[in-house]
Amino acid sequence: MTPFGFGRKKRSVGLDIGSGFVKVAVVDHSGSAPLVERLIVRPLGADAIVEGEVMDPGLVAQTVDAIFDEEGLSQRDVVVSVGGRDVIIKPIQMDRMRKSDAKEVIRWEAEQHVPFDMDDVQLDFEVTDPEGEGLQMGVLLVAAKRELVENKVALLEEANLNPRIIDVDAFALHNALEINYPEAMRGLSSLVSIGHETTNVNILEDGVPVLTRDLSFGTRRLSLDLQRERGMLADEAENVLRGEGADERLRSFLYERAQEVGRGIERATAFLETQEVGASLGRLYLCGGGVHVPGIAEALAERLEIETTVANPIERLGVKPGALDLDAARAIAPLMMLSVGLALRRIA
Ligand SMILES: Nc1ncnc2c1ncn2[C@@H]1O[C@H](COP(=O)(O)OP(=O)(O)OP(=O)(O)O)[C@@H](O)[C@H]1O
Ligand SMILES: [Mg+2]
Repeated sequence: MTPFGFGRKKRSVGLDIGSGFVKVAVVDHSGSAPLVERLIVRPLGADAIVEGEVMDPGLVAQTVDAIFDEEGLSQRDVVVSVGGRDVIIKPIQMDRMRKSDAKEVIRWEAEQHVPFDMDDVQLDFEVTDPEGEGLQMGVLLVAAKRELVENKVALLEEANLNPRIIDVDAFALHNALEINYPEAMRGLSSLVSIGHETTNVNILEDGVPVLTRDLSFGTRRLSLDLQRERGMLADEAENVLRGEGADERLRSFLYERAQEVGRGIERATAFLETQEVGASLGRLYLCGGGVHVPGIAEALAERLEIETTVANPIERLGVKPGALDLDAARAIAPLMMLSVGLALRRIA
């Protein structure tokens, strides 16, 4: 017990180990509003994580440990998350009951909704309409494969880190979106994170995540395509993908490739068209390193006929005076959505 918040951690360190880059956000919670203190992006060795799977946990742990050392991050208590195909988030309906009673039966409910063996999962849930009075209540069910969580904890321990909170990617992204773009919590919104290897699609309905889906699309493959099909060197391709100069021909090449993301979003959200909420996807928020790919935001906006915003996780957050180089922070901001969302959680 820590009454009155005494003993609560002053800072939260959000850690996002992506397949290409490690991101760390440090947020100070000692004041009345969260203050951003650090935003760090550092590369991970190539192919250390492939298709979401950690190929060499020892190497990843070593790299992360070294990043904390070199950046002088003395706080080793971190907030992290899990995601991908071994995590399922599902809004369900069940008989209305007290939360303590729901705890007893959630495993049984989950069995009907989650295609995993119940012996191998960690379950969590939240009642989404606690004030409701109907016979049924809305519940957001979360099931994560136990092995995924255990492996993550083992890796962090090897990196001399202490995971104090283990969140779910989609919830952390949601957190960062909500604080910066409160209007995204009304009606339908889509948050799409285009990363190094994976693009995650998250659909929110009145702030409740109703769908998350991963597409295997990212800057890694775009870079390989530019090297293979356009004869570019890896560095040149990387510069183009970061938005540093692309001629008309390259732009149209990338425009075509962006259609793949558009199609993926359309397919993932096709089910919405059959519902009364209508065919509209609401507004599209983009994040992840892939947002800098020339023309990608415009391509998606055009194809999906949707208003599109490149999300900035510190748009509405205070920044500790002098703590950040604001130009540099602006460039990396879209990559930091998940890490900032994690650092917004307070460690008890
Ligand atoms: N300032 C930047 N620093 C690093 N990478 C950048 C920058 N701007 C754009 N990028 C691009 O963003 C990519 C990394 O994006 P991001 O950090 O979202 O991916 P990730 O989290 O590592 O991957 P994934 O989520 O797919 O596992 C890089 O491959 C690079 O092409
Ligand atoms: Mg990522």
